[in-house]
Amino acid sequence: MDKYLNTAIKAVITEFPKVGAILNEYGIGCVTCGVGTCLLKDVIDIHNVPKAVELEMMKKIEAVINNLDVEEDISSNEAAMQVPREISYSEPIQRLVDEHKLILELLDLVPVLCDKINADLEGSRELVALSADFIRQFADKFHHAKEEDILFAYAKGNSDIINVMLEDHKKGRYYAKSILLGLDMEDASFITYSLKHYRELLSEHIKKENEILYPWLEKGMSVEQLDELQREFDRADSSFESDFYSKWESFVKNI
Ligand SMILES: [Fe+2]
Ligand SMILES: [Fe+2]
Repeated sequence: MDKYLNTAIKAVITEFPKVGAILNEYGIGCVTCGVGTCLLKDVIDIHNVPKAVELEMMKKIEAVINNLDVEEDISSNEAAMQVPREISYSEPIQRLVDEHKLILELLDLVPVLCDKINADLEGSRELVALSADFIRQFADKFHHAKEEDILFAYAKGNSDIINVMLEDHKKGRYYAKSILLGLDMEDASFITYSLKHYRELLSEHIKKENEILYPWLEKGMSVEQLDELQREFDRADSSFESDFYSKWESFVKNI
């Protein structure tokens, strides 16, 4: 068992697919995670599983690995439902989570936006251009920049998960460009394709950050480091116009 505790979760799931099903039942989505390099022992740690639930879950995982019978039906296990999904963040991290909320609000509007584009591309031109601008200015220059230039530096020695996040940011930039390119080409299907893929990408990305990366990074930071993070975020935000946030907030709310 010790060997597997120190093995990357993707390799454990490949060898024992039932382990993925068990984690999934406890709300831990390692099967669909694009990283997969977290060690089995760290997965439990990162996800803040309460001790009693951890013991229950580990018993099942151990039984699968040791090829013992697991009689209980995993899906009907009540303990699985007890994993709290509400996470409380420190002040600077909560700031990023709040920015995610605004980005998610725009992502929620993508299907409506796509319907509008398909019905009347010319009439939706301004809205599409502004949405692409929101992605570039708010999601990327304001939000992703704080992560890339400041937060990710605190993940010393853990580059795999950070590389996946950076790759997602890069793809997001590509989709923003594609949306504007689609406008130039007056190609409604190209725009809606890019918007839908951006929505898919960012929704997953934000979920990974909110539920895994942020709590995990925070856990390794001292109070002094969190204070420092807050100051650095203040500095970064002060380089934007004072109404930057409220301007984009009203844009999303008024769509
Ligand atoms: Fe990010
Ligand atoms: Fe983010």
